[in-house]
Amino acid sequence: MRIRILDTPEQIAKEAADIFAAEVKKKPDCVFGFATGATPVLLYTELADRCKSGDISFKDVTTFNLDEYCDLPVSDKNSYYTFMHENFFNKIDIKEENVHLPDGNAKDVEAHCKAYDEAIKNAGGLDIQLLGVGTNGHIGFNEPAKEFSKGTFKVELTESTIKSNSIYFDENQMPRSALTMGIDTIMSAEKIVFIATGENKADAVRKMLQGKVTPLVPASILQKHKDAVIFIDKAAASML
Ligand code: PGA
Repeated sequence: MRIRILDTPEQIAKEAADIFAAEVKKKPDCVFGFATGATPVLLYTELADRCKSGDISFKDVTTFNLDEYCDLPVSDKNSYYTFMHENFFNKIDIKEENVHLPDGNAKDVEAHCKAYDEAIKNAGGLDIQLLGVGTNGHIGFNEPAKEFSKGTFKVELTESTIKSNSIYFDENQMPRSALTMGIDTIMSAEKIVFIATGENKADAVRKMLQGKVTPLVPASILQKHKDAVIFIDKAAASML
């Protein structure tokens, strides 16, 4: 792991954008794994600005998102489909047919999850996977568990995740389950760009970087990745 502790989330967004920009310049038809949440918004704005100015193009890029809520219409303001389009995809020159998110309304969940992993493989695998972390150490929606997960699967969300994310929903409207890429799929990415900012992530960051590798802290698996760049701001690094 390469750990970069920077002063501000804005600095992180610029450095992380440099990595994505370099990849797409080197390999215009690269495959990116993207993430949702408050953390990556600055990065998406930075990349969209660079696309708008003509510095980079996503016209041949394929994307796979980490996760999506179950039983929430894609048109819902809180679906990750809507989040990604509003915060990023609608602002860049990506082709809609190259954008993939798990379908949280799939009738045959198992078949859909299998097909999602197959689609990633058929696209040539993930060149860069972007990750954030939950306060409970989750990556994607891989919650603390007895074992590390493998491929894309349906997960019951923990109380901690429901508490963190229910701020976006009307009372009791937050879905209780989601589809998420599994740990093996995430770890198969050639490169990982991880971002954590703010004091509320400090404990998860400490456990992830300085604790042992355990499925009870899913992000700790990144200690074993061959090319993971860990961006944390001063606040998230405050317990190291
Ligand atoms: P956040 O979510 O960026 O909204 O803090 C991160 C995560 O839960 O992975």
